Amino acid sequence: MGNFKFAEDFLFGTATSSVQIEGGDTNNTWYEWSELGYIKDSSSCFTACDHWNRVEEDTKILQDLNVQTHRLSLEWSRIEPQPGQYSEEAIRHYREEIKLLLASKIEPLVTLHHFSEPIWFQQLGGWSKPENKKHFIAYVQYVVEKLGDLVSEWVTFNEPNVYANLGYLLGIFPPGKRSLLEYFKITSALIETHIELYTLIHELRACRGFLGQTKVGVAMHIRFFDGLTWLGRRTAALVDYFFHQIFIEGMVRGKLKFPLISLDHKKIKKTGYADFFGINYYTRNIVEFSLNPSIYFHKCVTDKKLDKSDLCWDIYPEGIYRVCCRYYRKYKLPVYITENGLSDRADRQRAKFIVDHLAYLAKAIQEGIEIQRYYHWTVMDNFEWLEGESAAFGLYHCDFRTQQRTPRPSAMLYAQICKTKIIEQNPINN
Ligand code: NOJ
Repeated sequence: MGNFKFAEDFLFGTATSSVQIEGGDTNNTWYEWSELGYIKDSSSCFTACDHWNRVEEDTKILQDLNVQTHRLSLEWSRIEPQPGQYSEEAIRHYREEIKLLLASKIEPLVTLHHFSEPIWFQQLGGWSKPENKKHFIAYVQYVVEKLGDLVSEWVTFNEPNVYANLGYLLGIFPPGKRSLLEYFKITSALIETHIELYTLIHELRACRGFLGQTKVGVAMHIRFFDGLTWLGRRTAALVDYFFHQIFIEGMVRGKLKFPLISLDHKKIKKTGYADFFGINYYTRNIVEFSLNPSIYFHKCVTDKKLDKSDLCWDIYPEGIYRVCCRYYRKYKLPVYITENGLSDRADRQRAKFIVDHLAYLAKAIQEGIEIQRYYHWTVMDNFEWLEGESAAFGLYHCDFRTQQRTPRPSAMLYAQICKTKIIEQNPINN
């Protein structure tokens, strides 16, 4: 028991994504998905938090939270509304937003792909057609040329494993495909694109002489899969392999693991394609074997002993410690917790959730695990994909009708932690 002070160079932040907060864009795949009626509460990302028109107000919230860094994503469908046609207005908008962050002493970490895409990209066949990756690469080149003087740290893909899983294997995210073959195919495409982008972003920033050390990585969704029985443990290991390992080995080390195959046949030259290890950690799953092939022979169950978020996700703070230890020991890359949070409309659990997760990070740090950042998901309630407006991940409540933002009590606590970098009464025995 006792207090813990994070090092001065440890940065606290918040994370958001464009489609989830901006509103007003009809050119992205999630607008179409909302229109098709796939969102549980029939809401649409067209509304969201109207952040596009409230950048100053929302930057003020970040200042009030005392964050030192903020992770945001750029909306591809706004910047490139038609193939090869870029919107000067959209890029100017993001430049202004990033300048405001910098003027507030908030370091931006910019995500290039956070689930949403222009509708035209899907119409061209999306990632299922290997030749389409050239569109995303050209887009990133444009963005880095335009913003690379302001931004040195980049996330290429947010949760590529969730994107591939839900969009191409389970068919519940756009483009709604349900095929194991497609899953492996687009996984290879995402990995090969990340590898090209890693080199491209480094080279571009270096040859333009942009200041600040370039860092490029991925924000991987990582959960712990535990099995309780012998068969459960074997099943959990397989799920872990197909959900985590093939992506991580590909994007961090440039290795295409079985059954992935190269789609562009270029030689992978290096062995490292990440400058930090980005972890989005939310929960863990207990995995059981199932005879049902349509759920790929496994099912995830909750642990009755654990508290649950509004979405019934198990609250398991120890998991953040376990994932940090596991991946730092394996890859020796500085860890960024690129997301961590919960849906808790009544704000009954968020303060404890934050402190407990940070306490486990403190424990890992004391054991020599290099963790450099913590980004809380998220600033305000927003458009939570399939859950629409019904989930409440925000430190601030957002009333989507009036666009009134109201801090929850846990926002005060997080602001205090960001300012002092101290967590009081560390509940973990060291
Ligand atoms: C991870 C995703 O990156 C983010 O978009 C989402 O809102 C949170 N998880 C919560 O589900």
